Amino acid sequence: MAFDIDMIKEVYATMGERVDIARKLVGKPLTLAEKILYSHLWDGNPSKVFQRGKDYVDFAPDRIACQDATAQMALLQFMQAGKPKVAVPTTVHCDHLIQAKSGAAVDLKSANSSSAEVFNFLESVSNKYGIGFWKPGAGIIHQVVLENYAFPGGMMIGTDSHTVNAGGLGMVAIGVGGADAVDVMAGMAWELKFPKLIGVKLTGTISGWTAPKDVILKVAEILTVKGGTGAIVEYFGPGAKALSCTGKGTICNMGAEIGATTSTFGYDESMERYLRATERADIADAANAVKEHLTADDEVYANPEQYFDQVIEINLSELGPLLNGPFTPDLSTQIGNSMTEKATQNEWPIQVEWGLIGSCTNSSYEDLSRASSIAQQALDKGLKMKAELGINPGSEQVRYTAERDGILGIFEELDAKIFTNACGPCIGQWARYSDPKNAPKNSIVHSFNRNFAKRADGNPNTHAFVASPEITAAIAIAGRLDFNPLTDTLINENGEEVKFDEPTGWELPPKGFEVEDAGFIAPMENGSGVEVVVAPTSERLQLLEPFVPIQTEDLQGVKLLIKAFGKCTTDHISMAGPWLRYRGHLDNIANNTLIGAVNAYNKKTNFVKNQLTGEYGGVPDTQRAYKAEGIKSIVVGDHNYGEGSSREHAAMQPRHLGVAAVLVKSFARIHETNLKKQGMLGLTFVNESDYDLIQEDDTFNFVDIASFAPGTPLTLEVIHTDETKDTIMANHTYNQSQIDWFNEGSALNVIKKENA
Ligand code: F3S
Repeated sequence: MAFDIDMIKEVYATMGERVDIARKLVGKPLTLAEKILYSHLWDGNPSKVFQRGKDYVDFAPDRIACQDATAQMALLQFMQAGKPKVAVPTTVHCDHLIQAKSGAAVDLKSANSSSAEVFNFLESVSNKYGIGFWKPGAGIIHQVVLENYAFPGGMMIGTDSHTVNAGGLGMVAIGVGGADAVDVMAGMAWELKFPKLIGVKLTGTISGWTAPKDVILKVAEILTVKGGTGAIVEYFGPGAKALSCTGKGTICNMGAEIGATTSTFGYDESMERYLRATERADIADAANAVKEHLTADDEVYANPEQYFDQVIEINLSELGPLLNGPFTPDLSTQIGNSMTEKATQNEWPIQVEWGLIGSCTNSSYEDLSRASSIAQQALDKGLKMKAELGINPGSEQVRYTAERDGILGIFEELDAKIFTNACGPCIGQWARYSDPKNAPKNSIVHSFNRNFAKRADGNPNTHAFVASPEITAAIAIAGRLDFNPLTDTLINENGEEVKFDEPTGWELPPKGFEVEDAGFIAPMENGSGVEVVVAPTSERLQLLEPFVPIQTEDLQGVKLLIKAFGKCTTDHISMAGPWLRYRGHLDNIANNTLIGAVNAYNKKTNFVKNQLTGEYGGVPDTQRAYKAEGIKSIVVGDHNYGEGSSREHAAMQPRHLGVAAVLVKSFARIHETNLKKQGMLGLTFVNESDYDLIQEDDTFNFVDIASFAPGTPLTLEVIHTDETKDTIMANHTYNQSQIDWFNEGSALNVIKKENA
């Protein structure tokens, strides 16, 4: 149904030769990450050595996966490319737009009604362009990908940061912005800075209450939320081999929480077992035939310090269960007494109100079965739940099998809510409160990956702690943050003291996976006749119009829209939260453009001077006033402008509203590229101090834009209200094809022209 064995065999057919060439070029044994990277170069066989952390390299990913929140704008853009089909196998997964409230049946029905037009749009675009569609309720993107598409040695990209989950099946899988995914869908290369390499050696054996989750909670403690930035983390050693495939997925999944580009494991028997259990024996056979290329060379793991930029060693026999949080996933605490102490010192509520098991991180059959063994003990030992419990199975296949095997029934006997197979509380889709902003201080424990303030329920006073599913279950039953099931006892309904035994479970279902309707809809062979309907009155979806090129004359008399002060991330440029709803409607979401940016002249947000009226107002309104008069504008910013997520909305919205240029001290590179892709000018001050010359009423003339060329700075005349002027120089990094994007109005316009 879902995977493409021929494509995988093609990858394996060339892998050996490419790895051999790369090994000779590099002049030493290769890590797994290097093998996968060098065998997925856009230009085919490797011909040079890339500098880790320095060189930008063009890659050819094998697959793309998109979730429903990000797929909307990605597909709207792809429709502009004029291609009949996606160039690379692609799937869309409806998992983010389903709110958890009453339980799966009711919640799914309600989402199918409230987001019907978005789901219908995604389904029809998928059908038209050859994209596999996983309907609402089919499961969480990364669990579904692991079950159906991930394969050892492959490379995939996905429009979601936890795409990295597929490293559990030996892939290099990386989260990207929609614009990058669109390039690859349209048949272009995908560019990435060649990552640095971190090796994590796992020795000893995991046992008892310790779970794969604790491995990544420990790694997060060691590396912190920034420690993996720009690196691929490769796990190896006897402890790694002994972990289940879905457990490896959990570890790779939370690599996103340490900022890693991705994480991966070498191919081993656990992966083979998982492939066979998920009816992909032919992939397992194909992988077995090339298995020496699907893991690092022996010498690498024998002397890791010589081959990785950093090496960490963790002895799993000494690792105990951890609770990370609140508000950050790298703040680790050993369960039990250490938590009593820390919680008291920091005034974290000891009482736990909810335990949540699920999310793409921990919603496998193994996760549910181990947590259910704790739930079963609560029933057997006469314990009542002290906190509420919610479960989001990772996929319909997991849910159906877990129901068949009585696992869900155990949770239900404890009055747990079984939510839809979807993200739910993990992405704030949780109707916990009617007024979350004013909700009380409380603690929750979950098996998710992110625990930032407000993430799950919108309540800034919710202290969320991250743990393994089995620890989450035990703590929810005990209702205390500092409960240690290894040592502590509980008093049951009869007043007796009882203690939990160690959790037990199954790596894979003993009777095999089963499902009636997995929720997959294959696209038509020829979708050219499929009509994609978007109502012109829709407030959530809007078909895109090609951007009109910015002309030389447009760049004379350009007004300053805002001089942003300090940090200006993609969240400041295009806020998330309630605006998620408009991700598929450019004009509506443009109403949040730069509303989080601080105006350098008054230090206020969303309060800038309209140079036409002299009045102050919101940034989008002011910009719309310029647009109405046919006047282009410029945004000035500080260092690392556009850092944060790679969302292309942060470039598309200003472009849509008529901003022509962004001039800053420095850019976050992905945002700079996104500006280029949308046909705008992304410029940096040659002299950073010129930032201080820019005044509130300034008008800009781009005097030499007609001779815009690679490597040549642009000259800007800045005219102040007192009629004095300054001439400033602006650097740019446009190459000739990127200048073509500017001249044609956008990268998509260029692709479309090439296809015409
Ligand atoms: Fe969904 Fe949360 Fe994963 S939002 S994709 S379950 S991180």
